[in-house]
Amino acid sequence: MTEAMEAEFGTVAEWTAQVAVELGPEYAVPAGCRGSGSPPALDWLIEQMKLKPGSRLLDCGAGVGGSAAYAASSRSVLPVLVEPEIGACRAATTLFDYPVVCASGSALPMPDASFDAAWSLGVLCTTPDQLALLDELRRIVRPGGPIGLLVFIAHGDIPGNQLEGNHFPTDSALLDLLETSSLHVEQRRTTADLPAIPDTWNERADTVTRALSEQYGHTQAWRLAERQSSRIGRLLDDGTLTGELLVLRHA
Ligand SMILES: C[S@@+](CC[C@H](N)C(=O)[O-])C[C@H]1O[C@@H](n2cnc3c(N)ncnc32)[C@H](O)[C@@H]1O
Repeated sequence: MTEAMEAEFGTVAEWTAQVAVELGPEYAVPAGCRGSGSPPALDWLIEQMKLKPGSRLLDCGAGVGGSAAYAASSRSVLPVLVEPEIGACRAATTLFDYPVVCASGSALPMPDASFDAAWSLGVLCTTPDQLALLDELRRIVRPGGPIGLLVFIAHGDIPGNQLEGNHFPTDSALLDLLETSSLHVEQRRTTADLPAIPDTWNERADTVTRALSEQYGHTQAWRLAERQSSRIGRLLDDGTLTGELLVLRHA
């Protein structure tokens, strides 16, 4: 991982959990989703993946754990979080009460078919080991179980020095990867077509960002993480990147 990614996924993740604790329990889930998860995207995935109460859900690259916590509160699933950055693992443990395993998605320390479902949100584009990660998700989900992805797809050239360490696939590269992993696309939706994010959620997420900026705005880690996420924001705004939600099953 690059220094900017370590800042964003490690140091800032830990600060985010501290700030959310100071603000109060209603801030934990929006704080834990800062970056990628949003209620409309998570609702769509939960519905299309047909998650049920008691479903064992692996959240691969869970970050601070907000998306898993959202699924647990909306559908009573039983999440297990996997995350390679120790700072994010600590953050998830601070905010939520789910098992957290510090590991890479490309070598999951879980037996075959040990989960009813898995998802990996905003993760594929942060790792060069994309095929291994998809193969591992297929391996640990029981046959017929769903796999959800949020992937940022590139529709144009992104200068290599602008977002070092990111690996945004093109649409056809992603479809090739899925075919190689024997996963077929059952459902797909562009995040831009989803309903609006509720105001309360945005207000809470903004409050967390303001508090982080007030406490840590002077630090190199905060500046690196903010530069990284605002560059991705600009590429999403101008259409160079789109966010795509996919539900996959064993082919
Ligand atoms: C953009 S964040 C998304 C976090 C979370 N899924 C969410 O939606 O809020 C990407 C996460 O993927 C993690 N990550 C990077 N490489 C990974 C890998 N090989 N396996 C699993 N997770 C990885 C990062 O540490 C980071 O927490």
